[in-house]
Amino acid sequence: MPFMPTTQPDRSENRPLALVTGASSGIGAAFARAYAQRGNDVVLVARRVDRLNHLADELARTHGVDAITVPADLSEADAPDAILQNITARGRKVDILVNNAGFGVPQDFARVTWERHRDFLMVSVVNACALTRAVLPAMIARRRGAVINVSSITAFSPGAAGHTLYPAAKSFALKFSLSLDAEVRAQGVRVTAVCPGFTRTEFHEASGTAATMEQAPRRFWTSAEDVVQAAIAGNESGKVVVIPGWHNKLAVALMKYLPDGIATPIIRAGAARYRVED
Ligand SMILES: NC(=O)c1ccc[n+]([C@@H]2O[C@H](COP(=O)([O-])OP(=O)(O)OC[C@H]3O[C@@H](n4cnc5c(N)ncnc54)[C@H](OP(=O)(O)O)[C@@H]3O)[C@@H](O)[C@H]2O)c1
Repeated sequence: MPFMPTTQPDRSENRPLALVTGASSGIGAAFARAYAQRGNDVVLVARRVDRLNHLADELARTHGVDAITVPADLSEADAPDAILQNITARGRKVDILVNNAGFGVPQDFARVTWERHRDFLMVSVVNACALTRAVLPAMIARRRGAVINVSSITAFSPGAAGHTLYPAAKSFALKFSLSLDAEVRAQGVRVTAVCPGFTRTEFHEASGTAATMEQAPRRFWTSAEDVVQAAIAGNESGKVVVIPGWHNKLAVALMKYLPDGIATPIIRAGAARYRVED
């Protein structure tokens, strides 16, 4: 991917810099707002440039921070290099990385093209690791920094038909965070996996499951803002795994502690409602 031009003037500041992937909507936009509100400059990464520019204008105007838009398609292997080049060319370093970009593939594995699965893995797994690998050495050298990986309560699921790679990718985000924390906590870098359940964003619209998701009881839903507040508070207080909301904590406890023979059929029956045939 070529070096992408950005829309904001280059103004190096001393404020910490938070890079948020998937900042054009939902949980990512809420992370960007929350970090800007806390006085951080922000780098907004996603594909939809108009959305990013709109949010950047809002954040600069409302909070007086630098909001840098870096349009990028994270399914492409060279996206992380291009993003980091852009930031380095401004003389900036990433202090906070939020690996949030993601999407759902609700169909059964064999019904989906390999290209779609590969894009999913590039966005959710490979490029989240690539960005982390790119920013971590400077965080370690400065003995400060934060990495938040957006996982899901499905990281604890026993697996179900449809969304085949999703729990695997979210388990990866969880285990990656746990191992990384073990490596870098003593060097001043805080790592957190946030594991939301149903969250009101554009996620289900994007995957074509919005109509079925409307059937999920209202009490099971969380707002993107609540997910983000829990994630940032947890990260700042040194929590490695954050599960926002009592209902999600309960769901995770059931998945972890119920015997497999009981939990698996319940999860699979529930998941079948949100599976898409074609
Ligand atoms: N909503 C939920 O119920 C829920 C629950 C648990 C976990 N999560 C996780 O939360 C994260 C954020 O999702 P969301 O709920 O906020 O959904 P969303 O509103 O659909 O946002 C997804 C974001 O990911 C970006 N994205 C998707 N493909 C991309 C690509 N190829 N390159 C760059 N950016 C890409 C999208 O931006 P562009 O389309 O502009 O590129 C968008 O900003 C995801 O990792 C998701 O798995 C969501």
